[in-house]
Amino acid sequence: MPTENPTATDITKDVAAVVELGRRFYASKALLSGAEIGLFTLLAKGPATEPEIRDQLGLHQRATRDFLDALVGLGLLEREGDQYRNSPAADFSLDEAKPSYRGGLLKLLNWQYAIWGDLTKLLRTGERQQPSAYDFKQLYSNPEAIRRFMAAMDGATASIAPALAHAFDWSTVTSFVDVGGGRGSVAAEIAKAHPHLRGGCLDLPSVEPIFDEHMNRLGMTGRVGFHGVDFFADDLPTVDALIFGHVLHDWDDLRRLTLLRKAHDALPAGGQVLIYDAMIDDERRDPGTLLMSLSMQLITPGGSEYTAADCRSWLARAGFAETSAKKLTASDTLVIGRKSA
Ligand SMILES: C[S@@+](CC[C@H](N)C(=O)[O-])C[C@H]1O[C@@H](n2cnc3c(N)ncnc32)[C@H](O)[C@@H]1O
Repeated sequence: MPTENPTATDITKDVAAVVELGRRFYASKALLSGAEIGLFTLLAKGPATEPEIRDQLGLHQRATRDFLDALVGLGLLEREGDQYRNSPAADFSLDEAKPSYRGGLLKLLNWQYAIWGDLTKLLRTGERQQPSAYDFKQLYSNPEAIRRFMAAMDGATASIAPALAHAFDWSTVTSFVDVGGGRGSVAAEIAKAHPHLRGGCLDLPSVEPIFDEHMNRLGMTGRVGFHGVDFFADDLPTVDALIFGHVLHDWDDLRRLTLLRKAHDALPAGGQVLIYDAMIDDERRDPGTLLMSLSMQLITPGGSEYTAADCRSWLARAGFAETSAKKLTASDTLVIGRKSA
């Protein structure tokens, strides 16, 4: 925003940008509420007028027209005459009936939206602002809650899974397990892309029925096995490669180190650990990953994002001989550690 020798015009522009930044949450919340009420899934079935949309979704007349037209302005809907339809991107990613649906993640963000209201309290206390969030055993109180969380995780890994299937030389290994792999979407994508691999997904035992259901839907039953394991209480399985995706950011440094030491113990000589998270850039200037880090601090007791350098230092302390880091997707970084041969 600031330029080196600002003129009065530059400063006026910068001030306008500051105020605009303060208002930007209006647009986020309009999108999140649209996903919450199923607007995009409704319009994926066909264009509709404002009264039809109100009728179908149970909305009040007062705000609906402005809401719909704001979404048109934001590029999420299109309007022709009195008919509203989804934009192509909204139709592809926000229709619950499509396999490309990513709205599960938006529903999670909609839940986080309320928690972000207490950012100032986090700053004053250092405490997370949602005591029960990320207590996985409590979170998974029923199959529907597990399904909701898994859909959100799938939204977060939709571009990561294909990237990971190609960012690593999978021909050098014959088996892998995705630790904290949820209902198995990432493991399935890797196993599908590399048929020689014996793939596994490790998660809490209560996730197994949802994993089975998902593998069946993907036509991958039998291609990826499930390990019902508590990764803090139990040993990790011995395979050539262990993946930790969006797992280390849930926990404090001590628990991260515990998990990496367990991985080192379980891996054979030459075995590898692959870690991806929205890692903070070493210069600590990228607002995207820094804001993600605050989000993790708002919802977990000890979690946060971290830099690739931090991750490589934990790997070294856990005993990994060689480590490397590279960008995996626009949001995520991949760090790899290899155990001595
Ligand atoms: C934030 S999600 C990450 C999911 C997925 N790997 C991804 O990349 O988005 C963390 C995962 O760790 C699992 N998990 C949490 N605590 C666990 C434990 N003690 N043992 C095994 N899995 C656990 C959760 O069930 C969840 O699937």
